[in-house]
Amino acid sequence: MPKMTDENVLICGDTMDDAGVYRLTDELAMVQSVDFFTPMVDDPYLFGQIAAANSLSDIYAMGAVPKTAMNVTAFPVNKMSLSILEAILCGGADKLIEAGTSLLGGHTIEDDVPKYGLSVTGIVHPDKILANRGANEGDLLILTKPIGSGIISTAIKAEMASEEQIQQVTEVMRTLNKTAFDATKGLTVHACTDVTGFGLLGHAYEMVADERVGFTIESSKVPVLDGTLDLARMGLVPAGAHRNKCYLQDRLLFAEHIVAETQDILTDPQTSGGLLLAMDESQAQTYLQQLSDLGGQGNIIGYADKRRPGKIVVR
Ligand code: CO
Repeated sequence: MPKMTDENVLICGDTMDDAGVYRLTDELAMVQSVDFFTPMVDDPYLFGQIAAANSLSDIYAMGAVPKTAMNVTAFPVNKMSLSILEAILCGGADKLIEAGTSLLGGHTIEDDVPKYGLSVTGIVHPDKILANRGANEGDLLILTKPIGSGIISTAIKAEMASEEQIQQVTEVMRTLNKTAFDATKGLTVHACTDVTGFGLLGHAYEMVADERVGFTIESSKVPVLDGTLDLARMGLVPAGAHRNKCYLQDRLLFAEHIVAETQDILTDPQTSGGLLLAMDESQAQTYLQQLSDLGGQGNIIGYADKRRPGKIVVR
């Protein structure tokens, strides 16, 4: 790929960040991302909500406020009722309203299976960008949503998920990361990303890939959706989890007691997962307080240290 030479390109694809950032003035930068995928739940309205929450998430993960969005849609016009398409777009629009983001338009093409997501544009002060790299030694790591959505979605497809599991995973996936972002107000966050397709450990690795620090993840402190471990034991693990683990192979150091199923859960690809933030201890405590005051929930799942730079230790 040819290199971008414009000095106003602050972040582009080469650092595995969540979105691109372009400086417009000394006080204002534009943050852009696009994401779309096939349905993981049956209800088209809920699918629209999940897809929008997922697309907005990359903007929040950069510390930016999402301002405008465009629908990116594919739909089998001749095979499915247009009311399904309408429900998908309606779910997306409702989430944009909740986020305070304006829908400016979009584009739909014909395809064999429905696909939906958004291109989102946000704004941020150039000094306030939350990149995925920048965690310091001694920082605590906070995760704002439970993981396991890939495994539960696999169980849904296999008709092995309970009603409660379907409801819980849907609720988690359609929850905006807005609250998790709003709770950073007034605090110093050293690094941030959102947990999606590469799983918790994959996105954690992106945060240490420059080998300044390494992370230690305490697996017992990682929040997991109810029943995920049982489903993983039954083998309902998406291929993506194994791909992630394989890709990360020499980056991960699992303690002996971390069984294969737990490893699968920690590398399970997430849809619309939570924010993963790094900040020093006092800021982390204030963050958790501010987050709970706003009705959100977060867990300290580990810390950054200099013992094994560029590695993720799981114990
Ligand atoms: Co992301």
